[in-house]
Amino acid sequence: MAENLSANCGTVCPSKTDLSVAQLKSEIARLKKEKNALIMAHYYQRDEIQEIADFIGDSLALARKAAATDARMIVMCGVHFMGETAKILCPDKKVVVPDAEAGCSLADSCDPEEFARFVEAHPDHTVVSYVNTSAAVKAHTDIVVTSGNARKVIEALPKDEKIIFGPDRNLGEYINSVTGREMLLWNGACHVHERFSMERILEMKKTNPGAKILVHPECKRPLQLIADKVGSTAALLDFAAQDDAPVYIVVTESGILFEMRKQCPEKTFLAAPADDAECQCNLCDYMKMNTLEKVYLALRDEQPEIIVEPSLAEKAIRPILRMLELS
Ligand code: 13P
Ligand code: SF4
Repeated sequence: MAENLSANCGTVCPSKTDLSVAQLKSEIARLKKEKNALIMAHYYQRDEIQEIADFIGDSLALARKAAATDARMIVMCGVHFMGETAKILCPDKKVVVPDAEAGCSLADSCDPEEFARFVEAHPDHTVVSYVNTSAAVKAHTDIVVTSGNARKVIEALPKDEKIIFGPDRNLGEYINSVTGREMLLWNGACHVHERFSMERILEMKKTNPGAKILVHPECKRPLQLIADKVGSTAALLDFAAQDDAPVYIVVTESGILFEMRKQCPEKTFLAAPADDAECQCNLCDYMKMNTLEKVYLALRDEQPEIIVEPSLAEKAIRPILRMLELS
């Protein structure tokens, strides 16, 4: 779980090949064509991975793109649940991830058996789960959501519907606050988003009075309350692109700054500080496990491959398809 994680911020991964960055990039381009592969990357990936990706997006866009692609192979540069979601949506395609150990503390905060008992204890509730979950948790779910469509999906349900929402309590609290619902929340969280320091963000705002504060809904409630915009990575990006402030304090994993600076070169984006000044805890150590070299190796060797047992995939696909229909 979150607290026990050893951060690998700034760690230089040992190289397994003698290829330079330029050679890795040209080999990736060659292999991608030869193998009819699609490289997808989440906004939290290292800059050099975002640079070579065919498609970059938030969790919702990645799921949609996976469902629609006609590539033979998907290289999912993100964390394990993203590869698993792609595989569930595309059982006939080969889905590989650069590092099979790239997990997610939020997904880990929801044990499938405990979740199943929680669901069984509330048989009159509709079960809504965040996409940051294992396939086993999705199998106990009625509708999957991402931070990009959670509000829309919940608002599409009848007002008096009883709802279980898991695993992210912060996103759940946010959705309760904007929809007026009283969803029953699972007590899970992301170790990266929970570590942002309110005090240091307010100090930053004092030094940059014209700055707007952009907050991901996985952050704690007090941070949501001081935000100019709360939203998924893609929603924060869109807001910044359309807004006219010159400076933004970005309260989510700082990989997103790469695309923000690319789309809005005239604006200044400041990475919000975490509560530990010694450590870059606003980096997701799981997301940063993927390197350009591992992307090359995944393409070359077609592994680590994501395998989802067909009977599990059959159960887990229903709530994902429901999400895609509703959003
Ligand atoms: P989104 O990109 O969907 O906002 O998700 C954030 C996240 O934590 C992905 O792991
Ligand atoms: Fe999981 Fe948090 Fe990392 Fe996203 S940032 S992959 S929720 S640990």
